[in-house]
Amino acid sequence: MAEETLGAEFPEPPGLARCAALMQRFAARLGSQGRRVVLVTSGGTKVPLEARTVRFLDNFSSGRRGAVSAESFLSAGYGVLFLHRARSAFPFAHRFPPQTWLAALRPVKGEAEVPSSRLLLEAEATSLPGFAAALRSYQKAADAGNFLSVEFATLTDYLHLLQAAAQALRPLGSCAMFYLAAAVSDFYVPASEMPEHKIHSSGGPLQITMKLVPKMLSPLVKDWAPKAFVISFKLETDPTVVIDHARKALETYRHQVVVANILESRRSYVVIVTKDSETQLSLSDEEMGKGMEIEEKIVSNLQSRHIAFINEEN
Ligand code: PMT
Repeated sequence: MAEETLGAEFPEPPGLARCAALMQRFAARLGSQGRRVVLVTSGGTKVPLEARTVRFLDNFSSGRRGAVSAESFLSAGYGVLFLHRARSAFPFAHRFPPQTWLAALRPVKGEAEVPSSRLLLEAEATSLPGFAAALRSYQKAADAGNFLSVEFATLTDYLHLLQAAAQALRPLGSCAMFYLAAAVSDFYVPASEMPEHKIHSSGGPLQITMKLVPKMLSPLVKDWAPKAFVISFKLETDPTVVIDHARKALETYRHQVVVANILESRRSYVVIVTKDSETQLSLSDEEMGKGMEIEEKIVSNLQSRHIAFINEEN
């Protein structure tokens, strides 16, 4: 899809140029160090039904796949550009929803030597297991400049930011990986056909005709970052069709990998599909009991494939 077409049907969101510049700087710095960098997309896209949006369509995606994967890529030494739905799961923070720390953290009172400009908090270590380690991991990644997060809310935001991220990563060639875990809407109401104001129920039952969203995999693989290692995801609810659909995606877009998953079992079982292989990854009850997550296995598998891909290119 040409840039002009994206612009005409999906108007450029405010703040795009600033985010594009941030992503470009991030990618250029890591690229100049010869690092591998992954773009992780995460969470669902919101599709507005009105220009001054009161109502919108959304989907189930929690963003957890993307958040946990981002943590694993950082552990594996990747620079991580985390393009995520605002308020969806965030790396290192998603295991600690407000109800966990609101009750556990207490302001430290009455310490005379602590200046009033400082806030000291304390907690029983057992009340927030893993919290300090998560803070340290996040801060280490952010301080080292290995992690950049960029937010989207709507489908239009996502499409523009994906294109800008791809342009930022293109100079890295095969060292760039695209890990497209976001659940992107397949349907939208074009800006030109959207009512400006809130749709009123006095108009009777609502009938909406939505257009098909162009798959961004096509320009991504062909034009935006043709040398990159690209992984798309395929989610189905019917296990009998998911591998076929994954294979069709590989044939259509000619990228490297599809990660196939089923809605209900997506936390414990996926299949890594390439043009000549199918690798099942699963978590045993014992691994789940130890708190292991399937993303650790997905990322480890993909990292090996990415290194082999880079070596083939050179
Ligand atoms: O967020 P969680 O709750 O942890 O769940 C994770 C997940 C189930 C959302 C994730 O594992 C997953 O499967 N994401 C992809 C869902 C899907 O089936 O997408 P799709 O078939 O609509 O799209 C195929 C691929 O193209 C996806 O990688 C998507 O990110 C990408 N895409 C889709 C549409 C579009 N216009 N442009 C795209 O790039």
